[in-house]
Amino acid sequence: MWTRRNVLKSLAAGGGMLAMPATIQEALGAPEPDVEIFLTATEWEAPILSGRATPVWTYRGKVVKGHARSVQPIPGSYLGPIIRVRKGQRVRLVLENGLDEATNIHWHGLHVPDDMDGHPRHTAAPGKRFVYEFEIKDRAGTYFFHPHPHGRTGKQVYFGLAGLFLVSDEEEQAAKLPSDEYDVPLILQDRSFNGRNGLVFLSDEGAGGGGMMGGGMMGGGMMGGGMMDMMTRMMGFLGDRILVNGRPDATLSVATRPYRLRLLNASNARIFKLAWDDESPLTVIGTDGGLLEAPVRRSYVTLAPGERLELWADFSRYGLGTELTMRSLAFAGDMAMGGGMMGGGMMGGGMMGMMMGNQSLPNGAAFPVFKVRVARSEKAPATLPQRLSTIVRYRPEDAVNYRRPRVFNITMGMMEWGINGRRFEMEGVAEDEIVRLNTSEIWEFTNDASMGMMGMMAHPMHIHGLQFRILERSVSPSLAEARNSVSAGYVDEGWKDEVFLMPGERARVLVAFKDFPGLFPYHCHMLEHGDTGLMRNYRVRA
Ligand code: C2O
Ligand code: CU
Repeated sequence: MWTRRNVLKSLAAGGGMLAMPATIQEALGAPEPDVEIFLTATEWEAPILSGRATPVWTYRGKVVKGHARSVQPIPGSYLGPIIRVRKGQRVRLVLENGLDEATNIHWHGLHVPDDMDGHPRHTAAPGKRFVYEFEIKDRAGTYFFHPHPHGRTGKQVYFGLAGLFLVSDEEEQAAKLPSDEYDVPLILQDRSFNGRNGLVFLSDEGAGGGGMMGGGMMGGGMMGGGMMDMMTRMMGFLGDRILVNGRPDATLSVATRPYRLRLLNASNARIFKLAWDDESPLTVIGTDGGLLEAPVRRSYVTLAPGERLELWADFSRYGLGTELTMRSLAFAGDMAMGGGMMGGGMMGGGMMGMMMGNQSLPNGAAFPVFKVRVARSEKAPATLPQRLSTIVRYRPEDAVNYRRPRVFNITMGMMEWGINGRRFEMEGVAEDEIVRLNTSEIWEFTNDASMGMMGMMAHPMHIHGLQFRILERSVSPSLAEARNSVSAGYVDEGWKDEVFLMPGERARVLVAFKDFPGLFPYHCHMLEHGDTGLMRNYRVRA
C-alpha cells in the first residue's frame, strides 16, 4: 500500500527521507512539516553523582527542519530534550532506536491520531526507526513524551527516557508570562543508586551494560531478589534519591522577580505533596492541558506520576541571599495500614516493612525536593495576569451517557491489576470500552480499595489522546482521612489528562472524542501498575 505514511516509513528506513523529491510529497497530497526533529534513543554515561558516571538511556535530539530552538537539551542531564513547538504547526518526529530492545514514544497529553500516539502495538525494533507525524492541535501547555512499549515503560523511563513537549500559542503569548530563562522546567524523579553510582531498578533489569546496572538485591533480610522484584512490579518502584532535571540536590539560582515554574512528575510511582518551607502559598497557573482561566492558590499541591502543574513564583519579596526549599510534605501513604492504622503515612516494620521491602523513602514520607537561592536583584515589569486563558467548556448534560456514567473500577485479581476485572490486551477492547466519534461522555473511575492490602493504593488514571475536565469527586467515609491528607492540593480547575485517585476515591470526568477514530490506551500512570495490567484500550468508532 502506497499510503503516505508507508512511503515516509520506507524512505526513512532507507535513510533517504531528506532526499524525498517534492513531487512525491505533492503526489501524496500532504503538506511538508514545519518542524522536523530526529530523536535517537541511545545508551550514555551521565554525570549524576560525584565520581563515576552513571550508565543511562537518553534521547539525543536534532533539528532537521525548523527553528533551532525547537530542540533544547537539558545540559548534562539524561532527561530531555525539551521540544518547543507552536499550535498549528505540522511536526515530523523521527525516532531512531539505538537500544537493544523495542521502544516507541507516547506524546503524553497531545491529541494525535491513534497510530501516532505511541500505542504499545506500534514500536520500533532495535536499529529501526518510527516516523511520527502530526499537526499540533493542542493549546499551549506543558506536555511530556516517554516510551510506551508494553511491560517495559517503567524500565525505559527509569533509565532516563523522558522529555518535555512545550506547546505555545497566541493566547499564551498574550498573557505575557515570564519567558526564556525565567520559564523553568522542573522534572521531578526519584532514583536509587548502588555503590558504583549505577541506577538500581529490579534486580534483573539493567540499561545496556548488563551486570553493571543490575541493582542486585534491594531487599535485605528475609526477602530474596525474586520476591522483592515481584512486589516492586506490583506496587511500583520508589527510589530514595530525589532528582530534579536529572540532578541530585538541585538548587535554582533566581533573581528578585517572577518566574514560571513548570513541574512534571516523571517518577515511576512517587507522589509529591509540594510546598515551600516558609509556608507561603503556591500560585498555580496551569495544569496538564495548559493555562487555567485564572490563577488559583494552594498551601500545597499534589503531583502524581505523569501530572504537570505550572506555578507563578514571585521571588521579588525576598532579600538577596534568601534560601527557600520546595519540600514534599508527609501524607497518608500507599496502603490503608499506612494511612489509617499507622497514621501519618510512615510505614513501620513488621508486615508492612516486608511488603514495602527496604524502601527507605516510602510514598507519604517527607523530604526536600529542591532549593531556591535568591542570588540577583532584578526588576521585572511582569505582573500576574488575573485572566490567563479562556477554557471552552463542554456541558455535562450534553454527554450521551449523562444519566449513566461509564464506570471503570480498578481491580486486583490474583496478584494482578486490572480495570473492571480485565487486564491489558494489546488489541483487545470490550463492548463497554467502545465510544462514538463526535460524542462526549462521563467516565467514572473508582478506586474502591476493596481488595485487601493490595487494593489500598493510590492510582493516577491517564487517558490517551485527549484532555478532559474533572467534574466531581467523592471518597468513602472510612478512607476520607487518608484522602484528605492530599486533597487540598488537587488542582481540578483546568484541562487534565490524568485524574489522581487516593484509596476509596472516585472521580467523574467529562471526555469528548473528536477528530480521530481508533484504539487508544487508558491506564494507571504508576508505571509498574500499567506495565503489569492496569491498562486497557478504548475504541473511538467513527
Ligand atoms: Cu504518559 Cu500511556 O502514558
Ligand atoms: Cu496504579
